[in-house]
Amino acid sequence: MRTVLITGANRGLGLETAKQLLEKGFFVYLGMRDTSKAEKLVNELSSISKEFKLLELDILKNSQIRDALSEIRNAGHSLDILINNAGVFIESTGPNDQTTSSILKVDSAIVLKTIETNTIGALKMIQFFVPFMLEHGGGRIINVSSGMGQLEHMKGHWPGYRMSKTGMNVLTKVLDEEMHEKNIIVNSVCPGWVRTDMGGENALLSISEGVDSIVWLSTISNSPRGKFIQNRKVIEW
Ligand SMILES: NC(=O)c1ccc[n+]([C@@H]2O[C@H](COP(=O)([O-])OP(=O)(O)OC[C@H]3O[C@@H](n4cnc5c(N)ncnc54)[C@H](OP(=O)(O)O)[C@@H]3O)[C@@H](O)[C@H]2O)c1
Repeated sequence: MRTVLITGANRGLGLETAKQLLEKGFFVYLGMRDTSKAEKLVNELSSISKEFKLLELDILKNSQIRDALSEIRNAGHSLDILINNAGVFIESTGPNDQTTSSILKVDSAIVLKTIETNTIGALKMIQFFVPFMLEHGGGRIINVSSGMGQLEHMKGHWPGYRMSKTGMNVLTKVLDEEMHEKNIIVNSVCPGWVRTDMGGENALLSISEGVDSIVWLSTISNSPRGKFIQNRKVIEW
């Protein structure tokens, strides 16, 4: 049975990815900051499959990442896929609020926190889990990035979020270069603008539509590698 670990899997795109991969027969590890309030979630997931486990996992806490790895190892599992999904968008109250999002006004502490979570958190996960994947012959990493980090079409506002996702794309490229000879396949994905807590109710896509490329990259046999993907197609960096 293939195994997948998804960070930030208690809600939004992470949760929907977990559900769809459970339906496809994966064993799913759901990383989340607080497992204590997850009773409803467990019931919901159990109606799909029993092949899952919740892991207390704040991606900024090394001890929790280490414990998550130990749990997976001790269960006798390898890890086929790591989905770096956890992320924050905290520079303003929402995508339509332009007041505090200007590069001239944005709070640099919030920019730093955004980069810490969205980029460095993913880096930590890669540093812990890629060596484990290599012990078992390799695996896939899916970095849930954003078109807002795309340099080719960069726009104004929310510089922290944009930098954090450009930074995540750097992780994808650098890891791909370093793993050329190894069986580690890594890609970035832009889900599009999706109706989650982060995307808001005016977003264009349903959550199910938003995870399409993530689930696709998790399941296709001939995966692209070292690319930025949206709608199952390669897009510019
Ligand atoms: N929605 C969109 O339109 C859109 C577009 C492009 C890219 N994305 C990306 O897609 C990913 C998922 O977004 P979403 O729309 O599903 O957002 P969401 O509904 O706000 O969910 C974000 C998830 O990340 C978790 N998280 C935040 N900081 C964390 C940390 N330090 N450790 C572990 N988990 C943490 C949250 O956990 P808590 O519940 O504990 O806060 C939550 O589970 C993000 O990386 C986002 O940048 C979203």
